Amino acid sequence: MPNTLLITGASGFIGSRVVRRLLERGLPLALLARPAAAERLRAQLDSWPAGPRPWIVPGDLVQPDLGLSPGDRARLRAEARAVVHLGAAYDLFLGQAEAERTNTLGTRHLLALARELEGLEAFHHVSTIAVSGDFSGLYREADLDLGQRFPHAYGRSKFLAEQLVRASGLPWRIYRPGVVVGDSRTGEFDKLDGPYYALRLLAGLRRLPGSARMPMLVPRDDDALFHLVPVDFVSAALAELVDRPAPAGGTFHLVDPQPVSFRRFYLEALELLGFRGPRIPRPVRRLFRLLTRPGFWQVSRAAGRALGVPAEMIPHLLCDVRYDCAGASAALGPAGVRCPPLLDYLPRLVARFEASRT
Ligand SMILES: NC(=O)c1ccc[n+]([C@@H]2O[C@H](COP(=O)([O-])OP(=O)(O)OC[C@H]3O[C@@H](n4cnc5c(N)ncnc54)[C@H](OP(=O)(O)O)[C@@H]3O)[C@@H](O)[C@H]2O)c1
Repeated sequence: MPNTLLITGASGFIGSRVVRRLLERGLPLALLARPAAAERLRAQLDSWPAGPRPWIVPGDLVQPDLGLSPGDRARLRAEARAVVHLGAAYDLFLGQAEAERTNTLGTRHLLALARELEGLEAFHHVSTIAVSGDFSGLYREADLDLGQRFPHAYGRSKFLAEQLVRASGLPWRIYRPGVVVGDSRTGEFDKLDGPYYALRLLAGLRRLPGSARMPMLVPRDDDALFHLVPVDFVSAALAELVDRPAPAGGTFHLVDPQPVSFRRFYLEALELLGFRGPRIPRPVRRLFRLLTRPGFWQVSRAAGRALGVPAEMIPHLLCDVRYDCAGASAALGPAGVRCPPLLDYLPRLVARFEASRT
């Protein structure tokens, strides 16, 4: 009986943690990875949990045949029972062609392989809440196209990928994590994106003389929700759901059911980073709106690139979107997999961020 899970993105921030958890469950894995990542994965084999050693399969999502050797393809056809697709180009700076090449076409190539698998039980596709684009309102797990537009190529490429998965005729499941931050227990993180951009800018400001007492502008009106979710929750949720048999066909929002606002996150971050000066509330939303107006947008993007912070994040801070996660909570609650509240673990994230700068 085919029993192997074929995983893409095993060398990534989320994928590496999912792999560890699946290995702890004793599941046989095949890890499709580009040559450099395959080398890195091989070097880690000894530090992985005991159990069946994963099979590392050289491949590349952007190649129509996934760059697989005929032998590896034949073996996957016979042995793989599920695909867990985490591999992607995750970067808000990406152009449309580049984003679609890996995220949309790559998904198309993987779906083609999945169709050949003799014992396919499920195609598990890791998407993102960014598929909601600039939608405001309640976005449900079953929703996809609600007429939204996309502030960045990454979100659009993942939206198109979801459309392919849903139309594939295969037994699929889709998972949409929020903006993934470090581990809620240790603060450990791999990359400085999402809210870390704000931490980085504030840490830069702190280098100015007298910064601890400096008056700080804070949002007066910005209660847009900041949909952060820790990587340990996301990886635990994925391992739990992937390791569960049918039913196929569901979409799961892996988000914080009680998200805090951007304003609250920012005020807490100021405290944790040691800014003790007066707070000056200002209607930041107005500024954000101005920065995204057609006349300003190119300038905002160029300024963002110069600072290493994608302006493409700003439109998300203008959307009043809430992600319903009833299906995910019902599926994960009984297994004890719950997203912790951000304000409980934010001090650990900030402490780890601070430690990484020394
Ligand atoms: N991080 C987030 O905040 C977040 C939020 C929501 C959803 N997601 C989704 O979660 C998934 C994992 O994200 P992540 O944060 O773990 O990203 P990541 O750290 O950038 O990892 C991406 C993974 O994809 C692999 N990959 C990229 N291009 C490939 C190609 N052409 N062929 C084969 N493998 C390729 C990378 O391999 P290399 O090592 O070779 O580069 C890496 O293993 C993605 O689907 C992403 O869209 C992420």
